[in-house]
Amino acid sequence: MTTNKRDQKELEQQYQNWKDGTLKKALDRFPERKEEFTTVSNIPVDPVYTPLNEDTDYSEDLGFPGEYPFTRGVQPTMYRGRFWTMRQYAGFASARETNKRFRYLLDQGQTGLSVAFDLPTQIGYDSDHAMAQGEVGKVGVAVDSLEDMEILLDQIPLDKVSTSMTINAPAAVLLAMYIAIGEKQGIPKEKLAGTIQNDILKEYVARGTYIFPPEPSMRLITDIIKYCSKEVPRWNTISISGYHIREAGSNAIQEIAFTIANGLAYVDAALESGLDIDEFAPRLSFFFNSHLDFFEEIAKFRAARRLWAKLMKERYGAQNPKSMKMRFHTQTAGCTLTAQQPNNNIVRVTLQALAAVLGGTQSLHTNSRDEALSLPTEESVQIALRTQQIIANESGVADTVDPIGGSYYVESLTNQLEEEAQKLIDKIDDLGGAPKAIEQGFIQKEIQYSAYEWQKSVEEEEQIIVGLNKYQVEEEFDLTTHKVDQSVADDQRKRLKDLRDKRDNDTVENKLSELKKAANGDDNLMPYIIDAVKEYATLGEICGALREVFGEYEADSYI
Ligand code: 3HC
Repeated sequence: MTTNKRDQKELEQQYQNWKDGTLKKALDRFPERKEEFTTVSNIPVDPVYTPLNEDTDYSEDLGFPGEYPFTRGVQPTMYRGRFWTMRQYAGFASARETNKRFRYLLDQGQTGLSVAFDLPTQIGYDSDHAMAQGEVGKVGVAVDSLEDMEILLDQIPLDKVSTSMTINAPAAVLLAMYIAIGEKQGIPKEKLAGTIQNDILKEYVARGTYIFPPEPSMRLITDIIKYCSKEVPRWNTISISGYHIREAGSNAIQEIAFTIANGLAYVDAALESGLDIDEFAPRLSFFFNSHLDFFEEIAKFRAARRLWAKLMKERYGAQNPKSMKMRFHTQTAGCTLTAQQPNNNIVRVTLQALAAVLGGTQSLHTNSRDEALSLPTEESVQIALRTQQIIANESGVADTVDPIGGSYYVESLTNQLEEEAQKLIDKIDDLGGAPKAIEQGFIQKEIQYSAYEWQKSVEEEEQIIVGLNKYQVEEEFDLTTHKVDQSVADDQRKRLKDLRDKRDNDTVENKLSELKKAANGDDNLMPYIIDAVKEYATLGEICGALREVFGEYEADSYI
């Protein structure tokens, strides 16, 4: 990056001399620990990096923070202006219990909310549906109707706190409820800030909470994008998620490539629906994993940012710089947590959180030490949040922008990851884009292969996991874990029955049949869904109406 031709020749010579002399002597006396060093994603790692390893052009490839191609960050001041949002994913049992946890987290200094819904909610069933048996309130909060949402967001000022909702297939329903609560709190739609995950493509390949087949699912997504671009302009309409692709076993290159390929599919769908790129692209948002390999992860975030900026500018001709900015949330890698010696997870999470911050994340969830065992306890959640607060306030890493920029190693890795991810995106383009690549099982198979390779490397002890395949101890699990009481499901069912008794069921029926009619035609479905939730139609009823029109998706065996 900093050498001219004459210096380069001189440096090449010096490097050769060092290898033949100083390095060789050292190796003769004391060989290296391994025959080959690689990153977690299998990129070879050299003993030392110099300007010879990377041909970065500062102005073109890095530039300045807040400017194209945004390698160094999306804001000119980054964390000097404002720390990233500390946003812990939380939710369990009933809306009331989760509201209590939200308020506890905000009291502890958390700066944004992130709602975890239970599985029935995520797949569009009410708590009293047979499919919901045994799952109500387990991995998140049960939300059946606007009534639950009112309790969930009680005393939370929606004009001050931004809220992320991890909801995909029924995203339109939860967003409609959020808009309705905003109205009740006297906050107009234009002021609401938040994010819905709304990323169905990765549900088909990695996460599994889909309902409808791809085509109507993509229509629901573009309806949301269209509606929000006009009516809820501060809302991030989608959180294009690599997180789960990585958790399913992909490597860092695949995480970038498959996430961005899904992003391109959403862009294409929105363009096809008649929107202009700069009308909606500024509110596309991303979500990545922060895994074990510290430098590779920092490079991954920087490479993804640069690649997205280039694609938006060059492929789609975006004019507004905001359309080119990849803004993302990060969660530390749940799959790297061990049930053995759970306190070790605090250290893993610290390193992964630090990589996310050095990679320029906008928002961060730090996992709790006990998440490999159960839902986190309040004490564990507090340690996880304190980890972010210590990084932000004590370590000094937030005081200058992109402090790792210019590291020969990280710049070289950034270039390699970008190049390899671009190759994989080209392959997906050749297959006809992400939805086609998913249909053909290409993405699923790639992830499965990497997952197998990773598992093998752990089992063969090439990859050491402290406390798991080395440094084990005999231990008793005496950590207090958090359990969801069975009475939650009974209460939820009783409340649903009371709701159905007291609401105006004729109006609900009308709203649902209007929605079905619209789903059979081309109207944007958002206004119909908002009308239905305001009459206390339940999530299960709304999704049921759409199921009747759209049908259900059935997974192929490679998923
Ligand atoms: N200078 C000037 N302005 C700044 C600034 C700076 N240095 N830093 C921030 N700002 C501004 C921003 O521009 C923004 O203003 P705007 O709304 O007018 O544009 C405002 O401050 C808020 O900042 P950010 O946009 O950076 O941060 P947010 O937290 O609001 O948004 C996001 C971040 C990534 C864009 C958003 O989409 C988000 O919050 N995502 C979270 C997703 C999430 O939590 N997902 C959880 C998934 S868990 C899951 O999937 C479950 C499982 O299966 C694991």
